[in-house]
Amino acid sequence: MYKWRNPKCNNGILPPGSMGFPLIGETLQLLIPSYSLDLHPFIKKRIQRYGPVFRTNLVGRPVIVSADPEVNHFILQQEGKSVEFWYLDAFSKLLGLEGESRISAAGRVHSYARGIALSYFGYESLKEKLLPQIEEMVTKTLHTWSSHTSIEVKHAASAMVFNFTARQMFSYDYENSSEKICEKFTNFLGCFLSFPLNIPGTTYHKCLKDQKEIVKMMKDMVKERRASPAAETRQGDLLDHVINDMNTEKFLTEDFIVHMMLALLFASFETTSVVLTLAFKLLAEHPSVLQELTAEHEAILKNRKNMDSSLTWDEYKSMTFTLQVTNELLRLGNIAPGLFRRALKDIQVNGYTIPAGWIIMVVSSALQLNPNTFEDPLAFNPWRWKDLDSNIISKNFMPFGGGMRQCVGADYSKVFMATFFHVLVTKFRWTKIRGGDVYRNPIIGFGDGIHIKVAGKA
Ligand code: HEM
Repeated sequence: MYKWRNPKCNNGILPPGSMGFPLIGETLQLLIPSYSLDLHPFIKKRIQRYGPVFRTNLVGRPVIVSADPEVNHFILQQEGKSVEFWYLDAFSKLLGLEGESRISAAGRVHSYARGIALSYFGYESLKEKLLPQIEEMVTKTLHTWSSHTSIEVKHAASAMVFNFTARQMFSYDYENSSEKICEKFTNFLGCFLSFPLNIPGTTYHKCLKDQKEIVKMMKDMVKERRASPAAETRQGDLLDHVINDMNTEKFLTEDFIVHMMLALLFASFETTSVVLTLAFKLLAEHPSVLQELTAEHEAILKNRKNMDSSLTWDEYKSMTFTLQVTNELLRLGNIAPGLFRRALKDIQVNGYTIPAGWIIMVVSSALQLNPNTFEDPLAFNPWRWKDLDSNIISKNFMPFGGGMRQCVGADYSKVFMATFFHVLVTKFRWTKIRGGDVYRNPIIGFGDGIHIKVAGKA
């Protein structure tokens, strides 16, 4: 017990904090649901007690938590030097961050994976190709939603983003596919803080089983494509591109490709669907925001020669209020409790030592809910963004992370959400039927979900 509570630190002193009980550490306290958008009480209370940098133990790993802006910035810039991208054990295993074909690798491998994701989902691709495709798919999806008496938004939005992303990646034909791959992904997030105990009945066991099925399905697909290299069977999607590159990039094994696609899919739909779900909750509670949002998009239609033409890039760029709404949703959403890294060597911060091998949890969300920067921080107030200084924003608002691991899907998700709002408010009406409770455990969740009724505008 003494040894557990007083971990060794050969070089300097550890930040203050408590390591909890042997094996479980303080995991259970972090998993207690908190029914608010506020920072999880686990983090809030410890910041008050110990200051913005403290130590703890989560799922059996010693962790340093930082809610200090300077330390956070420093850690995110240390990628590949004194820290590496690392989530907790169960999650790392599921996402393929360990093993021979580690997708978390730094340097050449990492820049290849970023480059490929950006060439399909980055700014240029969105501007030149994806915007009208997103608009078409959102319109179709909302039509389908309108044919149901009730839609649970989180579930339906997850499927929408997943299907579109999977179509760009491996030409997934969601309308005609019998395999609803998306369903198998939904349990993944539950693994975020699970113990890596592979025993029937545990969350980890269930996740591992789902993951194996997905990996097998994707591996079969990669094998099938590789076995039929004829030009006429090529789809020109991300998977074809990567398979082509296997001749020149030796790290591109089938395992690596499967895990890379899995991580990209997972990163895309769980995040974007959470923000869209939160949007329905907050817009239903704040009709004046919905009113101004609708006015912005109706003005776009009025300024067109032909009201029925597709959304253009210039129109997207003109959506000032939509961007403010999106920023406010991202600020309050704080999807992940923190960004995780592993110290590769002893690191000195604020007079303390982060020992090599420890996990570092960068809690950038603490800055997004800081009342000194964002007055009345829990209020949903998109208008606040009009007056915020860009310097303050860049230092205190990091919904897409920072440094070398900054989100590659930031533009994609922003375009997706703006297009979704555009189609929703110009072509459809909706009402909330029930639900909308939010909790953090510490990941944001929506209880029984948010149920809405959608109808076409006359
Ligand atoms: C609202 C939506 C989204 C949010 C809030 C979000 C947030 C983030 C954050 C905070 C990180 C940094 C993680 C870290 O440093 O540990 C990240 C990384 C990443 N995101 Fe997103 N993301 C979103 C949408 C997407 C989408 C749509 C995609 C897919 C195209 C995507 C793909 C990725 C990838 C591949 C990384 C890892 C980048 C790297 O390691 O270099 N994200 N995201």
